[in-house]
Amino acid sequence: MTDITALQSDILAQVAAASDEAALEAVRVGALGKKGSVSALLATMGKLDPEERKVQGPKLNGLKDAVAEAIAQRKGQLADAALDARLVSETLDVTLPTRSENAGSIHPISQVLDEVVAIFADLGFGVAEGPDVEFDDYNFTKLNIPPDHPARQMQDTFYVAPQADGMSHVLRTHTSPVQVRTMLNAKPPIRMISPGRTYRVDSDATHSPMFHQVEALVVDEGIHLGHLKWTVEQFCKAFFEIDQIELRARPSFFPFTEPSLEWDMRCDRSVPGKITFGTGNDWLELGGSGMVHRKVLENCGIDPNRYQGFAFGFGLDRMAMLKYGMPDIRSFFESDLRWLKHYGFQPLDIPTLDGGLSR
Ligand code: PHE
Repeated sequence: MTDITALQSDILAQVAAASDEAALEAVRVGALGKKGSVSALLATMGKLDPEERKVQGPKLNGLKDAVAEAIAQRKGQLADAALDARLVSETLDVTLPTRSENAGSIHPISQVLDEVVAIFADLGFGVAEGPDVEFDDYNFTKLNIPPDHPARQMQDTFYVAPQADGMSHVLRTHTSPVQVRTMLNAKPPIRMISPGRTYRVDSDATHSPMFHQVEALVVDEGIHLGHLKWTVEQFCKAFFEIDQIELRARPSFFPFTEPSLEWDMRCDRSVPGKITFGTGNDWLELGGSGMVHRKVLENCGIDPNRYQGFAFGFGLDRMAMLKYGMPDIRSFFESDLRWLKHYGFQPLDIPTLDGGLSR
């Protein structure tokens, strides 16, 4: 019979000598692994006669427990030591100034997106998202634009090759399909915005084939145009960071809203390269809006006799261009580092309403 005491002190000595986790693991396998010395001893138990087993059993189990505990303890010591060593080698002086020449910057679109979210979060709106490759059904049909409807030509659509699910897809031409997704998944009251990428076949100094919109949707009992007007006004004041603005609503048409309105903001562009809001004789287009069409509510499972809603979809890129004086939309997406350095924002300046949106 192997001398259990001798074996135990031998293994414990090996455990104590293990200088890293790999060495310790080797000791563990040598003792407690399938073919380990302790396991081999345990395996002989079955062959012992009952009397002998009564004596040997507790001893062997004691050995096993002692070894396991010693290994666990050593493991803890080694991990502590490794952490200490790392802490010493990876010290970092957090009081050092950043190196401005290496600092990245926040793209104006990301900045504007954060600003919009901050503004609407303050008004109690949640943020919803939808995919860029959208069901034709959500981008058009559920928004009261059936397949042969002439309104489909209003938006120069990028169609997408048929997908595995057999559904017809497009690159979403507006953020309005997120209205559909939201209404299909939530019950009123609904207050959401959805900023994101949109796509149309279009490209010049003020149009990019990929651009950004922010959609807003409110659905509840008793919602009316006054709510829409107030919300648009609050948003514009907060976004452009001025108290004096003048908005104009023009009658318009969208199949998914009735009535439909487009919003313009009074501005002055008489001094070249400069734009001021609230005065002047120019009007700046913000985007479309309206009361959610009852057919759209119905299509999305909401009772139009009980609930009303308003929605708007504004162009984020052009709002960014105006707020930050950037003349050409195409430079937004050219990844020119010089442009980004000039127009980009400090990563640590997160827009908040109390801290200032764009300071
Ligand atoms: N989706 C419309 C567009 O892209 C804008 C809009 C949104 C109009 C919501 C009404 C309501 O032109």
